[in-house]
Amino acid sequence: MSSVILRNVNKSYGNLPIVKNLNLEVKDGEFVVLVGPSGCGKSTTLRMVAGLEDITQGEIQIGSRAINDLPPHKRNIAMVFQNYALYPHMSVRENIVFGLKKSGADAETIKEKLADVSEMLKLDDYLDRKPADLSGGQRQRVAMGRALARDADVYLFDEPLSNLDAKLRHHMRTEIARIQHQYNMTAIYVTHDQIEAMTLGDRVVVMRDGIVEQVGTPMEIYLQPTNTFVATFIGSPAMNLIEAKIEGEDLVFDNYRLPAAKIANVDLQDLKSHDTVLVGIRPDFFEDSALSSPSDNLFEFNDIQVELVENLGFDKEIMFKLGGEDAKARLDLRSHVKRQENISMSVDLNRVLLFDTSPQGMLLNTGEV
Ligand SMILES: Nc1ncnc2c1ncn2[C@@H]1O[C@H](COP(=O)(O)OP(=O)(O)O)[C@@H](O)[C@H]1O
Ligand SMILES: [Mg+2]
Repeated sequence: MSSVILRNVNKSYGNLPIVKNLNLEVKDGEFVVLVGPSGCGKSTTLRMVAGLEDITQGEIQIGSRAINDLPPHKRNIAMVFQNYALYPHMSVRENIVFGLKKSGADAETIKEKLADVSEMLKLDDYLDRKPADLSGGQRQRVAMGRALARDADVYLFDEPLSNLDAKLRHHMRTEIARIQHQYNMTAIYVTHDQIEAMTLGDRVVVMRDGIVEQVGTPMEIYLQPTNTFVATFIGSPAMNLIEAKIEGEDLVFDNYRLPAAKIANVDLQDLKSHDTVLVGIRPDFFEDSALSSPSDNLFEFNDIQVELVENLGFDKEIMFKLGGEDAKARLDLRSHVKRQENISMSVDLNRVLLFDTSPQGMLLNTGEV
């Protein structure tokens, strides 16, 4: 295994910049996930590491080697694509060992690896089948097996689960996590799915328009998103952002006055230099006041009219208005709230985030758990 370093990496097509000055260090044995909306440059970044795209500017290093000028087959990388790209005329067995054979592994190693991988991915019963005789999920496991059978320095995954149905996606996600830990693989994994990013990544890189918006552990990204883009992209349903006026030390919207002094880590002097801010509250951070244990730091939103309730089993999502905007809260099953009724909900002010109203929407405080 090896570390991967991207230093001031740029990619343009013609004079259209696609990846802009990307810096990232993936440590040996680390699982890093690139996440962002479709078209933000995730695949392009991965393909530059793999050597499938040249680098317009900057440097990529694997271990201590600069690899800019190395052809793909000399980089010792294994890659899994979204469309499995299996050899249709070869059996599952032949597909899995193809790369190993090509790299000159001896018969004993090939046998061991095949047994290892097919057991791990539960492919034992399918080794003699052709890809056409497999389900989508089985094909994806073969593609995964082919990559994992190789003794690569770095494993690259480009949305490998996005063609699978929800249940299989969940299963494979767990498998990948298990295998990565077991083999201590260095991996870069690309997805537009924030749940995959949060569950798989040791660290998550949030990208937008070819730029890295934030790099952090899943919890850092969730609890301390650097700006409103990251705050609303990660987490589902998305964080509520409510515009509030600053009056003295209070944040004011509707009939509510939130005392800024009780919100975690707010610089009150700095806050007063703004006329308005965005108050960020995750749907999960609301509680039905009838069920919450009293605490000094709870702020109560009284008499909120519930527009809609969606029962999700353990959770229910409720929709209402806050600061004139559509807002959502996720309450647990003990809440008996019904649509068109009024409810009081409380929020721990330690978990409230504030953002400025600039186009970037920069974070002004750091929440506490
Ligand atoms: N060969 C190419 N020529 C021109 N533009 C490209 C090419 N490949 C990708 N792009 C553009 O680069 C941007 C980033 O693409 P990509 O890296 O595939 O995004 P993502 O994987 O995040 O969805 C997109 O706007 C895409 O249209
Ligand atoms: Mg892509």
